[in-house]
Amino acid sequence: MKKFAVAALVLASSFAYADRSVEELYPKSCTMCHAQAVAGAPKTHDAAAWQPRVDAKGIDGLVQSAKTGLNAMPPKGMCNDCTDGEFKALIEFMVKPAS
Ligand code: HEC
Repeated sequence: MKKFAVAALVLASSFAYADRSVEELYPKSCTMCHAQAVAGAPKTHDAAAWQPRVDAKGIDGLVQSAKTGLNAMPPKGMCNDCTDGEFKALIEFMVKPAS
């Protein structure tokens, strides 16, 4: 029984450090502004709004500017504990045109 509890604990803590999914993070952070183009935010899945930014900076450059903030875009976009990998996944999700 004790062994099982230890194994469960190890398993739970390793999950806590894994990248969280876009489905989990997006509704809690970026959606507030990017779903409606608030304050000039490029709208999620609006390729015309995103493409010039992707062309100018690349996805990695956009990860950097999401972390530092840009004008009305707050640093880290309300996801203070997001990792670089999580920002990248969120941005790739928003950049992708609606199908
Ligand atoms: C409080 C509103 C707000 C939230 C929340 C927000 N953004 Fe933004 N975001 C903006 C605005 C406004 C801009 C446009 C800034 C500009 O170009 O002046 C922007 C622009 C961006 C850009 C383009 C930056 C560039 O260099 O062109 C990226 C990437 C981005 N946001 C990612 C995110 C991510 C990822 C999240 C969620 C973790 C997020 N944003 C949450 C308002 C927000």
